Amino acid sequence: MTSYRVPAELDAAEPAADRPVTLWLDGEPVSGTAGQTIAGVLLGAGQRQWRTTASDGAPRGVFCGIGVCFDCLVEVNGLRDVRACLRRAQDGDVVTRQGEPGVTA
Ligand code: FES
Repeated sequence: MTSYRVPAELDAAEPAADRPVTLWLDGEPVSGTAGQTIAGVLLGAGQRQWRTTASDGAPRGVFCGIGVCFDCLVEVNGLRDVRACLRRAQDGDVVTRQGEPGVTA
């Protein structure tokens, strides 16, 4: 069995063209595609960790990817504790690495 991607012009579902989005991670631009989650954009840019644990400052990123474990928490547009694996990236989102209170990411 092989996997392949149907060229957009032959796809009966007539998908829209990819629309780029840019979010800002700690002041640096990170590019992705509309429809991706924040975690998807960050992973696509090679980021693997963006939070630290309260107990020992261990790095965390995506673990479950489905909103269960809370390992992927980030601050988005000033709101803490946003699960990056669930929040769809919006163009211009300001994302900040998050540590627990008193712990620097
Ligand atoms: S990776 Fe588990 S909640 Fe986001």
